[in-house]
Amino acid sequence: MVQIKEGFGRLEHRYLFQEVGRRVAAFHEASPETDIIRMGIGDVTLPVVPPVARAMHEAVDDLAVQERFHGYGPEHGYEWLREAVVRGDYASRGIRVDTDEVFISDGAKSDLGNILDLFSAENIIGIPDPVYPVYVDTNVMDGRRIRYIPCREADAFMGEIPEEGLDVIYLCYPNNPTGAVITRDRLKAWVDYALRHGSLILYDSAYEAFIQDPDIPHSIYEIEGARDCAIEFRSFSKTAGFTGVRCGYTVVPKGIQGRIPGGGQLGLNALWERRQGCKFNGASYISQRGALAVYTPEGQAGIRENILYYLGNAAIIRDALVRAGLHASGGRNAPYVWARTPDGIDDWVFFDLLLHRAGVVVTPGSGFGAEGRACFRLTAFMDRARTVEAMERIEECIHGL
Ligand code: MLT
Repeated sequence: MVQIKEGFGRLEHRYLFQEVGRRVAAFHEASPETDIIRMGIGDVTLPVVPPVARAMHEAVDDLAVQERFHGYGPEHGYEWLREAVVRGDYASRGIRVDTDEVFISDGAKSDLGNILDLFSAENIIGIPDPVYPVYVDTNVMDGRRIRYIPCREADAFMGEIPEEGLDVIYLCYPNNPTGAVITRDRLKAWVDYALRHGSLILYDSAYEAFIQDPDIPHSIYEIEGARDCAIEFRSFSKTAGFTGVRCGYTVVPKGIQGRIPGGGQLGLNALWERRQGCKFNGASYISQRGALAVYTPEGQAGIRENILYYLGNAAIIRDALVRAGLHASGGRNAPYVWARTPDGIDDWVFFDLLLHRAGVVVTPGSGFGAEGRACFRLTAFMDRARTVEAMERIEECIHGL
C-alpha cells in the first residue's frame, strides 16, 4: 500500500470553504425553497470588463488560425505581460521590479502553495492568526512546524512581531480575512525583523487593488530592504474578476538567497524558475491576453469602477452590522468585513443560525484560526441588490435573537 505524507493525517478533515460548501449543500437539499445568498467565499460576481473580454476573444481567434496559433508559452509567462506588470504595478509607483523577477501563473493560491517546494521541512513557519487557510494547510501537508502570530484588533490586526527568529513569515495585506491594512511603519518593522533574522517574508498582496487610503503601502517593495527578504504574490482574481479565468503572478527578487544544508547558497529566483520550468507549463495564452488588457486605460478605468462598487457593498455590510449592534471592522481598503458574533456565540453555531434562519452564508471566524473564534467574515463581492437583501435578513435575524 502506498505510504502517504504524514502531514495529510494532521489536516482538518476538509478545507474551510469545502466545509462551508458541504453545510450549504446539505441545507439546500433539506430546504430547496430557501433562496440562499452566498457571502462566504470571496468569489467575484461582476463580469470581466469589456477590453478584457475582447482580448480573450481575440486570443481564441488567434488559436484558430495557423499563423497566429500559440502552443506552449514560456513557463514564467509571456514577456509582454511581465513587462506590463512591471510598468503598471511597480514602475508607475516608483518601485523597482525587473521583468525577470515576475513569474506569471494561474493564480496566487497555487503559487502560495507551490512556493513551499523550495523550502526544507525543517523551516519554522510564522503564520498570522486569523489567516487565509491555505498558508496553514499547505505547511501542515509538508509537516512543517508552525508558530502562530496573533493578529488582534487592539493592534489593528497587524501582527505581533515575534522575539524568536522564524524562517518564513506570511503576511497578507489588505488582509484576508479581517479586511485590515498594514501601515508603512509596521511593514518596515516586519522587513527589519526579517533582515535581522535572515527570515523570508511571503507577502500576499492579492487585494492590493482595493487600497484607497494614499498612506497605505501597495507593495512590500516600497519598503527599503524588502528586495532582500520578500517574495510578493499578486492575483488578477479579485482585481479584475479572474477567479474563474485564473491568472496571477509572483515576484521573486534576484537578490534573495537560500541556504543549502551543509553549506552554500542558492538564489530563490533561479530556483523558482527551475521549479516552474519542471512542474508548470504556464498560464494559458487566453488568460494572459486577458490580463494584459487589464493594463490598458480602458481596462484600468473598468476595474477601478468595479472595485468601488464592491467597496460600496462593503460599506453597506459594515453599516448594517453596526446597526444590528455588532462590532465590525475592515471593508474600507479591502473586500472583507470582519465582525464579532452577537453575545460572543460560537461562530459555527452563528453560521448555522444565519444559514437556517436568514438563508445567508457567511464564513465562520474560527475557520481562519483560533483568534477568529466568535467572529465571522462577510464578503463584498455579491451584487448590490443581493447585498442589501442579505444585510436586511441578517439584521432581522440578529434582532430576533
Ligand atoms: C476567500 O474567500 O478567502 C478567497 O476567495 C479564497 C481564495 O481566494 O482562494
